[in-house]
Amino acid sequence: MKQLPAHHRSLSPEAQHYDDIERIVELDFVRATEAAALNSLPWLGRGEKELADQAACDAIRGMFDLINICGEVVIGEGIKDEAPGIFKGEHLGTWRPGSVKYDIALDPIDGTTNIAKGAPNSISCLAAASPAPGQITSMQDVPSFYMMKLAYGPRVVGYLRREGFSAVALQNPVEETIIGAARALRKRMGELVVMVLDRPRHAELIKEIRASGASLRLIADGDITAAMGPSLPDSGIDLYLGVGGAPEAVLAAAGIKCLGGDLQAMMWPRDNDERARLVADGHGDMLGKVFFADDLAHGKNIIFCATGISDSALLRGVRMRGNSAVTHSVVMRAQNRTLRYIETYHDFEFKSLRLRSSGQNRRLSATPNESESADGGR
Ligand code: FBP
Repeated sequence: MKQLPAHHRSLSPEAQHYDDIERIVELDFVRATEAAALNSLPWLGRGEKELADQAACDAIRGMFDLINICGEVVIGEGIKDEAPGIFKGEHLGTWRPGSVKYDIALDPIDGTTNIAKGAPNSISCLAAASPAPGQITSMQDVPSFYMMKLAYGPRVVGYLRREGFSAVALQNPVEETIIGAARALRKRMGELVVMVLDRPRHAELIKEIRASGASLRLIADGDITAAMGPSLPDSGIDLYLGVGGAPEAVLAAAGIKCLGGDLQAMMWPRDNDERARLVADGHGDMLGKVFFADDLAHGKNIIFCATGISDSALLRGVRMRGNSAVTHSVVMRAQNRTLRYIETYHDFEFKSLRLRSSGQNRRLSATPNESESADGGR
């Protein structure tokens, strides 16, 4: 039998039957984001973003209760999220002796406001990596609330490798970056599409993008899919720019890495108080540092998966069909760059979701108030 990677040698003999455990466990990760999407769907358009988030977290925890891994959350809800969620340090999985250790970064719902409004662009996503020997964690915990981000796809990465990395850089004037990306993609300025979160803090950035002649697309919420957009074939997005949540930057970095694109990000303190707190907490050396996707999500063995809740550039949302639902997910591995789309049919007659809150399986329903019932199905 082939020699196992060092970080997998602690596997039980049965588990060692598979010398690449990621190939098996990745489908369980998809089950977790599918469960989050299905359990939060009843809250779509109901104005209850926290209840939607809670439902997604409950389903993710419940699904992990069935997965034989030692999972530790290294990136959870950000400090910007006040709702009770899944936070750093939480253990997920059964933690059965001999199970593989995974660092987990997750966002049970990116775009909770979108869900509350019934608007597009909300997904459930997670990234997982088994840390390599000697590695403390495989994903960077960023202590700031926000990061300034610049994301681009594989063609721009190829161009930068040939022409030098200064052509498209976070610290460049915006126009210079846009010109660099347009050259890399052989597009005229007016053809280059830049996506930005629609926020007052971006007023100046928006002016500069418009002045450059590039085409601007403003979005309300959900910058994981926006940052991954330039790395996805046919998303119609060439660059993602602007300030968004720090945990979202790490999740986007994991996905972008699997797609061969890149992301540059810097901590972006909101005010002097936050800057002073970061310095006082010993993070001064991280201020001003540009993190690339590989710095935020290190190593080769990163898995990223997501399920659409409402439609986005990355995925279609959940489709209800009478007493069943169809979910659309994606799972990718940085190691081999396989991008696998999964369309799953869930029959509510038979399907139930394992929820942590009740420790039982809940029959699926399209509305929040339909009665719950315990059964043994999965
Ligand atoms: P939530 O789903 O946690 O509300 O995050 C949505 C989001 O749009 C993120 O995608 C983005 O990174 C962040 O909020 C931007 O933060 P803010 O809404 O404070 O500008």
